[in-house]
Amino acid sequence: MFQLTDITKSFGATVALSKISLEIKQGEHVAIIGPSGSGKTTFLKLLNGQVIQNSGSYSIAESHLNSLSNKNLRRLRSEIAYIPQDLGLIPQLKVFQNILLGRVGKHSALGMLSKFLIPPRKNLQHIFSLLQRVGIPEKMYHHTATLSGGQQQRVAVARALFQQAHSLLADEPISAVDPARARSLITLLTEIATENQLTLVMSIHNVELAREFFPRIIGLKNGHILFDSPEASTEQLEELYHLSESELVEP
Ligand SMILES: Nc1ncnc2c1ncn2[C@@H]1O[C@H](COP(=O)(O)OP(=O)(O)OP(=O)(O)O)[C@@H](O)[C@H]1O
Ligand SMILES: [Mg+2]
Repeated sequence: MFQLTDITKSFGATVALSKISLEIKQGEHVAIIGPSGSGKTTFLKLLNGQVIQNSGSYSIAESHLNSLSNKNLRRLRSEIAYIPQDLGLIPQLKVFQNILLGRVGKHSALGMLSKFLIPPRKNLQHIFSLLQRVGIPEKMYHHTATLSGGQQQRVAVARALFQQAHSLLADEPISAVDPARARSLITLLTEIATENQLTLVMSIHNVELAREFFPRIIGLKNGHILFDSPEASTEQLEELYHLSESELVEP
């Protein structure tokens, strides 16, 4: 599904990703772990074409991104659902309206506006069934801002599913919720990915949940892949999170 060869991405003097080569197959569930600033968000944005590499090659389902027209790039991106670190919901809108926006890349601006103003009944039925699946059907017509953080995360999951993508990328979807809700959201995401045969790539700070729910864990440090293995060993984790002299704060 995703094939990266020797990918490097810099922002000015900062190298966010350095010589990354890997393949993620269709239907795989992969967790990305690593300290703050290690390149997890950049990696996920690269996978969905929001960030373009400085060197190396990247292809999605055998299409090289460098050689695609804008239209084809948009089409390819519309098939990859992305839940950003801040969820990307519009708080002033109602829950069902935020979910409708999941298909924004699939329609023309005019087509999207008409669907947004007068949502077709089948869309509303679909949205209701997705909200049932994520456990908050009663919130469909509520203003998004009135939902708790954990409920808003579920809206973001429903919006990603409404997009009917082949892959789901999620950037720290469980930050800012208590441990029980974090576990329940990860369970939901991995179950939904399995049910829909989605490729799931998720960055996650909670190493225990990554080990428990993901059969493949990639450890990123300073933009490099430190390990890519079925489980992260204690030694690998120590090396991953070890602070360098310059990062240690004097007492
Ligand atoms: N748009 C940008 N402009 C400049 N530098 C950037 C940009 N995006 C990322 N970086 C830099 O690239 C590096 C990797 O950032 P990234 O956001 O990918 O890390 P992360 O692993 O997601 O961190 P966190 O766990 O804190 O979310 C950092 O040094 C960051 O400052
Ligand atoms: Mg990040």
